[in-house]
Amino acid sequence: MTHQVVVVGGCGHVGLPLAMALADKGAKVTSYDINPVAVDLVNSGQMPFLEPDSEPVLNRIQSAGTFKASTDPSTISEAEVLIVVVGTPVDEHLNPDAEAVPNAVAALGPYLRDGQLLVLRSTVYPGVTRLVERRLAQLGHKIDIAFCPERIAEGKAFTELYSLPQIVSGCSQAAVSRAAEVFGLLTSQIVETTPEEAELAKLFTNTWRYIKFAAANQFYMIANDYGIDFENVRHAITYNYPRAIDMPGPGFAAGPCLFKDTMQLASFNNNNFTLGHASMMINEGLPLYLVSKMEQKFDLSKLTVGILGMAFKSESDDIRSSLSYKLRRILRFKAVEVLCTDEYVTTDPTLVSLSEVLEKSDVLVIGAPHTAYKHLAPRVPVVDVWNALGQGTVV
Ligand SMILES: NC(=O)c1ccc[n+]([C@@H]2O[C@H](COP(=O)([O-])OP(=O)(O)OC[C@H]3O[C@@H](n4cnc5c(N)ncnc54)[C@H](O)[C@@H]3O)[C@@H](O)[C@H]2O)c1
Repeated sequence: MTHQVVVVGGCGHVGLPLAMALADKGAKVTSYDINPVAVDLVNSGQMPFLEPDSEPVLNRIQSAGTFKASTDPSTISEAEVLIVVVGTPVDEHLNPDAEAVPNAVAALGPYLRDGQLLVLRSTVYPGVTRLVERRLAQLGHKIDIAFCPERIAEGKAFTELYSLPQIVSGCSQAAVSRAAEVFGLLTSQIVETTPEEAELAKLFTNTWRYIKFAAANQFYMIANDYGIDFENVRHAITYNYPRAIDMPGPGFAAGPCLFKDTMQLASFNNNNFTLGHASMMINEGLPLYLVSKMEQKFDLSKLTVGILGMAFKSESDDIRSSLSYKLRRILRFKAVEVLCTDEYVTTDPTLVSLSEVLEKSDVLVIGAPHTAYKHLAPRVPVVDVWNALGQGTVV
């Protein structure tokens, strides 16, 4: 049977790859999105953001006629399966917006039909799945509600969507069975849970990763304060030693997910989350730590500083919650000038070329360790917490 799927938020970083993968595996899919620029780009065969291996899939499904993008909400009525994957950011005071997904679902109200399956795919504040169920029932809708969290990493979507197990939960057995059938198009590995378990599973997953980065970053700062290169220590620890093999390297733990999901979990636990808050202080504090170390070595007030890599991670064009921007903000108070460049970012007109940064800077900081920087041999000192240049991490 061909599933008629509409992905709401279907031109975003998570919604678009999911919509495309489902279309590639035999569903008939529409990406519904309120962003007309992204919708037009997708319909013209272009991705609105960098995602490796996406373009052949997009060409294939557009030629096969199994996929389109649309800003028309009436497409919602055509769906047998609705998948909602709108953004769920925390606000400027780090409060989660528990209404982000319920509001997006409420906006679909006039177009919903009895008998549809509604899958929440955004990372939600715990309790949101049941809240959506209650609100739709109060309005008299007879719709099956499922929550199936997304676990891909940006940049790995077209590997991971076809290989990761899918966590499937629902407010009824019918919802679970129907959602398992849809995600069964992508994998045979389905893990069934309750909605409450799945909501926590997703938040714990991201928070766990955030805490691991914080541990590595604090280890880095301890070693660095003693003039010891943490990369040598980490190599000694992890080399053929299975119990520590997953120790991450130091670096900016940034981006649109890990930090905000740790804060969602803290808020859910009445802000009683020592480990999460400590991780925030360490990870968000790393740019400040690096600048304070630079100030001990250099008179920044006389220097131009260059930042290489403004995306939140390597080989990405996504600058959301990038700590390179926090680094830039701090350095602008201290240095003569801060020049920034990125190999992939196209959305920031303040960035300049790599050659200009290399030519004019007195000291460089690696903000995102893009491969393009690995073989540079700059004539000026480089602050490289990632060891991207292989010259050590001590600053
Ligand atoms: N980015 C990741 O790596 C990642 C990984 C796993 C899970 N998630 C979760 O997935 C969700 C989406 O994240 P994202 O990074 O794709 O966000 P995004 O901002 O890239 O995409 C969201 C999309 O939804 C659209 N949108 C917003 N409101 C809408 C509405 N009412 N109707 C239709 N479209 C609407 C936006 O225009 C945008 O295109 C979040 O909950 C996030 O935590 C993200």
